[in-house]
Amino acid sequence: MDALERYEPILDDFEAFRAACERPLPSVVRVNGIKATRERVTDAFDAEGVEWEPREWNEKVLKIEGKPGNTWPSFHGWTHGQEEVSSISAFVLDPEPEERVLDSCAAPGSKTTQLAALMDDDGLIVANDSNLGRLSALRFNTERLGVTCAAVTNQDARNFSLKPFDFSAFDAALVDVPCSCEGTIRKNPTALDDWSLDHIEGVAGVQKGILRRAIQATREGGTIVYSTCTFAPEENEAVLDYALAREDCQLVEYDIGLQSEPGLTEWQGDQYDDSIRKAKRFYPHHNDTGGFFCAKLEVGA
Ligand SMILES: C[S@@+](CC[C@H](N)C(=O)[O-])C[C@H]1O[C@@H](n2cnc3c(N)ncnc32)[C@H](O)[C@@H]1O
Repeated sequence: MDALERYEPILDDFEAFRAACERPLPSVVRVNGIKATRERVTDAFDAEGVEWEPREWNEKVLKIEGKPGNTWPSFHGWTHGQEEVSSISAFVLDPEPEERVLDSCAAPGSKTTQLAALMDDDGLIVANDSNLGRLSALRFNTERLGVTCAAVTNQDARNFSLKPFDFSAFDAALVDVPCSCEGTIRKNPTALDDWSLDHIEGVAGVQKGILRRAIQATREGGTIVYSTCTFAPEENEAVLDYALAREDCQLVEYDIGLQSEPGLTEWQGDQYDDSIRKAKRFYPHHNDTGGFFCAKLEVGA
């Protein structure tokens, strides 16, 4: 847990944070609106004897007893087991039907399938990932959840090419980048075993390239959501600061209904753009979730 001690100066209650990181994560599912309503899912849970509780911030998110994949609604593709905070990014992007959306780092598809449901499975999602092996999980999830509006690509998102498409820009992009995964410690107790500052600095370079390319590939007035499941400012605020200085975009406020802390404007002597406080940090002890970081940007002035 030593890797987490560096965050003591920025936390309201470090002991509560540490205790939450050591507790197992509640089991949470997202209702898949493409195949079922919330009522259909909760009726099926009741019939099967699966205990469930609503999560107040979003009616599509339910806490259940037992493993998310071991229920009839999951078998039918009516629900998808998805860490609660992981569902924030797509809700914040909030795409409309008929839009063109780039999902830069899409595998295994939790957010691609969520975007598709928010778009009523109508429009185009380009679900991209550079890891060919992980694309099979993405395809499995899109098929299981009944998604037909997603096209799968296998590119390095830092150089994402629009050449295969008959349009010149996306309406929106979800940039859910690879990261040091510190915030997944409750789900994966070994997540911090290989932690190092060198790894953080290395992956931050990749994140900067992916975010920058997604901004360039999105039309003026379009929306970008940047998210990670880590606490490291080098992978969060520093990446946003880098993109703001080089691309035509700005941070946008959003409201999600979960407790959060604002993005940092200073970390270990580095100063970040003041607007980055509009990003949100989600800590495990605030909502009994994993850790997450999410920022919304608009392209163009
Ligand atoms: C946090 S995971 C994405 C999770 C996914 N958005 C979801 O909700 O299921 C990050 C993904 O980025 C992919 N990745 C890593 N480097 C990449 C790159 N340069 N271009 C595109 N994808 C990349 C990894 O293979 C991994 O699947």
